[in-house]
Parts: sequence; C-alpha cells; structure tokens
Amino acid sequence: MSATSVIGLQWGDEAKGKIVDLLTEQHDIVVRYLGGNNAGHTVIFGGETYKLSLLPAGILHDSVVSVIATGVVINPKAFLEELGRIVERRGNVPPERMLISDRAHVIFPYHMAEEAAFEKARGGDAIGTTMRGIGTCYRDKAGRTHAIRMGDLVNPERLRRRLEEIVPQKNRAIAALDDDFTPFEVDAIFDEYSKYADQLRPYVTDTTSYLHKAVAGGKKLLFEGAQGCLLDIDHGSFPYVTSSNSSGCGIHSGSGVSEREISKMIGIVKAYTTRVGGGPFPTELDDEIGQHIRDVGNEYGTVTGRPRRCGWFDAVATGYGARLSGVDCIAVMLVDVLDGLDEIKICEAYDFNGVRTTDFPSHVEDLAQMKPIYRTVPGWKSDTTGVRKRADLPANALKYVETVAELVGYPVEIISVGPDREQTILD
Ligand code: IMP
Repeated sequence: MSATSVIGLQWGDEAKGKIVDLLTEQHDIVVRYLGGNNAGHTVIFGGETYKLSLLPAGILHDSVVSVIATGVVINPKAFLEELGRIVERRGNVPPERMLISDRAHVIFPYHMAEEAAFEKARGGDAIGTTMRGIGTCYRDKAGRTHAIRMGDLVNPERLRRRLEEIVPQKNRAIAALDDDFTPFEVDAIFDEYSKYADQLRPYVTDTTSYLHKAVAGGKKLLFEGAQGCLLDIDHGSFPYVTSSNSSGCGIHSGSGVSEREISKMIGIVKAYTTRVGGGPFPTELDDEIGQHIRDVGNEYGTVTGRPRRCGWFDAVATGYGARLSGVDCIAVMLVDVLDGLDEIKICEAYDFNGVRTTDFPSHVEDLAQMKPIYRTVPGWKSDTTGVRKRADLPANALKYVETVAELVGYPVEIISVGPDREQTILD
C-alpha cells in the first residue's frame, strides 16, 4: 500500500490543489480520476500562480508522471489549451510524463448545447452547472449508445463512423428543446476533432494497465480528487451535484486502482463552507459576514468566476463526507480567512421539524428544511498568516480547529493559513 488520496469533504473548492502540490514531491505519479474542466485548482508553485482545471497538479513537477484516468471526461480543446499554457511557462511535457486513458470519455460541442437546453428548461430550478458539458457527457457514457471515448477519438475511421451515427440524432434532440438551435455538422466536428486527435494521440494509452504495473513496481501514487463529497452523484445533495463520484467512493471506479492500495486518505475542508450553483445550503450566510468571508477568502470560482455562496462550517455535512470517503485525517484550510471575526459559529447538528439530528438527509427537500444548531465560539482577532506551528496559533484559533476535529470525528493533521506552501502548519 503506497498510495495517498486527497478528497474534498464539502461542496468543492476546499483548496485541495495546495495539498496535492505539497504532497506531489513525495510521490511518483499523480492521478486525476473524475470530472473534467469543471474543476478549478489554484496552485502557487515557485512563487507563481497556476490555475489548473483538467491537468493534475503533478504537471508542475518535472519528476512526476501525471495520469488522467478512465473516470475523467475530456474536452480536447480545453485540455490542449491548458497544456499549451503550461508548456509556455514551464517547457515541454513529453508523453512519458502525461498519460491520458483511452477509456476516458470525450466532450463534444453538442454536450454543451444539450446542457444549456436542459438547464434552460429547468428555469429557476436549474442545477447551476459550469456549462462545460460534463453532465451531458457522463449521461452519454451511462447511456452507452452516444458515447465516444478517447480510444475512438484517436482512430479516424471510428471517430467518423461514430459522429455520423450520433450527430444527426443529437441535432434532432436539441432542436426539440431549443428553437434557436443551429444544427451541428459532422464534417466540421470531424475536422476540428481530428486536429485535436493528432496532437493528443501520443498521450493516449491504457492508463489502467499502466497504473497496475506502477503499483506492482512499488511506485507511489497520489490520487487528486476534484469537486467534493457533497457533489457526489450517488451520495451528495442530488440533483444539485456533479455527474461523477466525487467522494472517495470514486477513486476505485475512476482509476481502476483498488482503494486497498491507499494507505492514507486525507480529507480537505475549509474552515467555513462554500458552494457554487443551486441547491440547499443550511449554513449559508446571506449577510455582511458572508460577504466578508467571500471578500477575504476571494471566494469566486476558478473556472467560471461566479461568486461562491459562503456560510459557517457545517460539521454534519462535512462529517458525512468524511465517513463516506473513509478518511484517516483532515486538513483545515483557509483558517486565516476567519482572522477578523468577533465570534464564529459551527453547525454541530440540524433541527429537522423540532428533532435534533446529525444525519445528512437523502433528499434535498429535507436538506432545505434543516435548521442549523450552532455552537458559537469566540474569534481570535489576530493575523494567523505568519504562524507555522500549532503552538503559535492564537488559543481561540487552535480551539476552533480542535472543535472542528471533534465534531467531524477525525484528527486534524494539516492547518493552512494562506495560499503559499510555507503557510502550512504540519506539526
Ligand atoms: P457540473 O459539474 O458542471 O455538472 O456542475 C454541477 C454542480 O457541481 C454545480 O453546482 C457546479 O457549480 C458544481 N461544481 C462542479 N465542479 C465544481 C468544482 O470544481 N468546485 C465546486 N463546485 C463545482
């Protein structure tokens, strides 16, 4: 067992990228196994800021192999643009350092068009997706009949045959939902995607077999989670979720590597809660404290730029995410964002129609009814960004982190007090 995994325990954007980056040096291979270019990771490396969406954070380290595994959905244009930006700043990335699964599914322009039509049809009840064609690509994967995988993309005959079957059907389906829709043309998509295929071909391989051999050879793997547990398609706040298993449950299916190989599962949490998109959010703060957190924490989406909804830490939701994923410990991120507050609240239970519960509900209608029961703790009103040791944290800040650990039910091993690598408390 020599693998580590990093999983977001809330609704995504827990600053996983920073921890992945910190751990990358101790590993040989970084594996991204779910989602697509809906994810956004900000990594500060060598004093420079990198915004990654589809590429694993391992891409910034020359000695590490980055793998985009089976469970990922790939927009080839977005991938090549992102890779191009990295190559411009950090030099060439040879195919032996960047592997893409031939089983991963491909996002086409009709996926974005379908998603826009579906979201529009839901009106005020929209999921609030990132509009990257993620859900509609996974829909085709599960439906099988309209799916195109990376292995098909890089085979020109197969690609043309599949597009000829699929595109006319997609045109009819989207036209039925959207009167203003301009139909897609097989030739145009084939020409555009053939160019991407030519550039991607050297990277496309059987990553499952590669990873199995790597495990057998004693290589150290780091699984880089995307989104968060509460956005998991099976276990999250459905239907306001993403379309893959974004809790720890997705590692095995998304990579083909058994979770029995994982020796350490690290759950990442923010010291408060954020969410983007629609759906109930029991501890949401629609007031000046919420705005303060948004401003100080720069809580605007890496991918879409949307302002994130902000609220107090929710130990019920986070504890559920932690148990789902089977974490060993947690990392509490962005503690410094709370530095200026007089007092801080932590949701320790929900009141559901007068009954106290610490169970996260199955249905969003019930989640919408949950009233948070808060524990109020004093703030520390001092700057923690320069602190490097637990013992040097203000007493109330340490108490806050310990309360989070107690309520979530797992020990805190990492505390983060700023975006830089150095701003991390590991003792
Ligand atoms: P989709 O993944 O684009 O289908 O969006 C579904 C839901 O997941 C929406 O509420 C998105 O805002 C949310 N979501 C998707 N990716 C992320 C992420 O990386 N961080 C936070 N929320 C995300």
